[in-house]
Amino acid sequence: MTNRTLAILKPDCVRKELIGKVISQIQSAGFRILGLKMVRLTEDTAKGFYEVHKERQFFKDLISYMTSGPCLPIVLEKENAVEEFRKLIGATDPAKAEEGTIRKLYAENIQENIVHGSDSNENAMKEISHFFSRRELLEINGWN
Ligand code: CMP
Repeated sequence: MTNRTLAILKPDCVRKELIGKVISQIQSAGFRILGLKMVRLTEDTAKGFYEVHKERQFFKDLISYMTSGPCLPIVLEKENAVEEFRKLIGATDPAKAEEGTIRKLYAENIQENIVHGSDSNENAMKEISHFFSRRELLEINGWN
């Protein structure tokens, strides 16, 4: 089934000037870009986005990392987008990620891991709506 996922190229990806390389790898893997923007997350937006992690001991650090510079939310479409994108990026901890995955290639550690990918279709829809309105996606390319 063709579906969507939300990727975020995180602040470390931007700082390391890896935007081009990572997007190229995403497109080579057959993902279609439906929406893309560069934003600087506010503390409130970051807290809202990562609300599921609010009780975790790494939450505070995660929020300061995600607000430390611009990032790029990207709406992607492909057959089994969520699962396929998670395969492409590799495990959260780059030390455990498979060879050739984006995190294995570029990530520093479990927190500064270059890229986010939604973990289910349900969360993908919620996460996409954090950054993109239906109208916006419709205006960009006719899909809503
Ligand atoms: P992400 O896939 O965006 O989902 C939650 C993020 O929290 C994760 O990538 C990492 O950036 C961060 N994270 C997850 N687990 C840990 C951990 N054990 N320690 C520090 N940061 C983590």
